[in-house]
Amino acid sequence: MPRLLLLNGPNLNLLGTREPGIYGADTLQSIEQRAAKRAQQGGCELTAFQSNAEHELIARIHRAPEEGVGFLIFNPGAFTHTSIALRDAVLAVRVPMIEVHLSNPHAREAFRHRSYFSDIAVGVISGFGAFGYEVAVEAACRRLTGQPHSS
Ligand code: DQA
Repeated sequence: MPRLLLLNGPNLNLLGTREPGIYGADTLQSIEQRAAKRAQQGGCELTAFQSNAEHELIARIHRAPEEGVGFLIFNPGAFTHTSIALRDAVLAVRVPMIEVHLSNPHAREAFRHRSYFSDIAVGVISGFGAFGYEVAVEAACRRLTGQPHSS
């Protein structure tokens, strides 16, 4: 069964209580559960991992090929705007990646407008809250199972 790896970066473990006006009321656990269910419905298997530490996210990305991961779904949090190391890790493993953000960083402070991931992503989903993860899972799963985007 095709495998997806859902990665979340710093402070996303606090979803539910962290600035709910921006990030919504859903907890990361509920987001991960819904993502796993959506993957299963599409004939894929999803593993989720969150870390506040850059090196742990890098290590998890490095393991992705040997674990047979066919797609990364990645919300790098604030590392989006700072981490060349995480960008390099994604490029190194050559596993396709969808970048996800709950908020729309382009509608926020100028320092959030630059992403080190958007130009290496298959696609970017932002501004739709927790639902964006489900869209990303469906898109990745369709790619891996060879289904067209339009149905
Ligand atoms: C975020 C946007 C980032 O700018 C921010 O640092 C986050 C969350 C989002 O999901 O909207 O931590 O990635």
